[in-house]
Amino acid sequence: MERRKFLGYTAAAGAALMLHPFESFALPPGGKIKLAQVGTGHRGSGFWGEDLLKNFEKLIEFVGIYDINPGRLARAKKAYKTNCPIFSSFDEMLDNVKADYIIVTTVDATHDEFIVKALDKGFNVITEKPMTTDEVKCKRILDAEKRSGKKVIVAFNYRHSVHNVQLKELLAAERVGKITSVDFNWYLNVYHGADYFRRWHGRMAKSGSLWVHKATHHFDLLNWWLNSEPVEVTAYGSLDHYGSNNTFRGTKCRDCEFKVKCRFFWDITKNKRLTELYVDNEQHDGYIRDGCVWSNEIDIYDKMSAQIIYANGVTANYSLTTYSPYEGWQIAFNGMKGRIETWEDIPYLQKMQDDQALHHAKEMSQAGDAANGEVREIMVMDNFAKNYEIFTTPKLTGGHGGGDIRMQRRMFVDTNDNPHHIMAGTREGAMSILIGIAARKSIALKRPVKISELTDLVPMANRF
Ligand SMILES: NC(=O)c1ccc[n+]([C@@H]2O[C@H](COP(=O)([O-])OP(=O)(O)OC[C@H]3O[C@@H](n4cnc5c(N)ncnc54)[C@H](O)[C@@H]3O)[C@@H](O)[C@H]2O)c1
Repeated sequence: MERRKFLGYTAAAGAALMLHPFESFALPPGGKIKLAQVGTGHRGSGFWGEDLLKNFEKLIEFVGIYDINPGRLARAKKAYKTNCPIFSSFDEMLDNVKADYIIVTTVDATHDEFIVKALDKGFNVITEKPMTTDEVKCKRILDAEKRSGKKVIVAFNYRHSVHNVQLKELLAAERVGKITSVDFNWYLNVYHGADYFRRWHGRMAKSGSLWVHKATHHFDLLNWWLNSEPVEVTAYGSLDHYGSNNTFRGTKCRDCEFKVKCRFFWDITKNKRLTELYVDNEQHDGYIRDGCVWSNEIDIYDKMSAQIIYANGVTANYSLTTYSPYEGWQIAFNGMKGRIETWEDIPYLQKMQDDQALHHAKEMSQAGDAANGEVREIMVMDNFAKNYEIFTTPKLTGGHGGGDIRMQRRMFVDTNDNPHHIMAGTREGAMSILIGIAARKSIALKRPVKISELTDLVPMANRF
């Protein structure tokens, strides 16, 4: 008979509390944390703007905001209901604000410019992932952090989902012995996946490709779960579905002559927030948010797979696809004493149909922390056992499995709550993007690429 052992939610319980990179950010009692921000787009003005203010109003305040697009900048100031100054250049902002953190939420390839400048002017930084997009920029950031004595935190929100934390706990406890290999597959559906091809993410020079922009999350999770760092990557990838792989194309969905026959037609004007953010501000910078997924300028991969060798001997097989009928992921850890498997949102496993069109919109619009009564499951099976155990956590509806709000709480409220070194700095930021950068190079060079070809950082078998 099946043995199913349901454990309560144990995330973080019993884990040693370690001080995270912001331990030095203790604030005077009663004082508010002062934030200055560069980048007021979707993530910047939402999660790092309105949501942050809504959730931590008594704790934080904005002291400066900057964006290259004056329309989006003015919109952010209004949405934040703040009297803080807005600036017409980043340098001007740094020269005029007294901030505890500079928050960087711009296009990926520009992060390094803002991180380095902020560090050199004596500020601590919170940056959105990916830390940056190539190995040269990565070194600039590492060097600037060293010479400035200031700190950068990389906002790896996926780590903080309660499901991912529970998986970390099982692995840290060596529940199935030493792990030797991993199979990890991530599926983006034709709504969310296509969205990366509608704007700057589809350009290698801006996003570093999805190997970096998207997979930095997945590689960071792998590095953290395995408590090890990568040494070598072999990868394959191509652009099979989007970009020039179609007989017709337009410029933007709104006025496209093919809107009736194109399965990827998307009416941005039906979304008030996105219209205000992008359509209303196109005249300032020509940033088209509903660009054509068939654009000939798209030069990233839409199908990717890699093998990663870790310093502790683990080999990981990873794949990412961007035109799946459903959105979800699955992972399996093979250990010397058994196997751990888990997954999210795979329709035939959850035995429930999701509306795939709404799936992403729902996830991204919920910054709260509600549970919907369902659970996430982790299956553990020992070698020679007849049965398996199931460990569960609540399926939270908040952004990124509840990871968004938990990460911000650890940054701004429970600053000593750092279970399993969950707070990430530049080393973690570097090690995750370096896997993606190595994968890009591996495809171009048609050979395995060592992490040591890209950085002076020496991969550690055991990170902690
Ligand atoms: N952790 C997550 O789950 C998550 C989710 C979404 C986005 N992100 C990250 O957040 C960042 C922003 O993403 P987004 O979706 O909000 O993009 P976006 O395009 O909506 O916003 C980017 C903003 O940066 C501004 N900008 C671009 N170049 C600039 C420059 N040189 N100087 C000043 N401002 C500049 C743009 O005008 C825009 O307002 C990206 O790095 C992305 O990877 C992370």
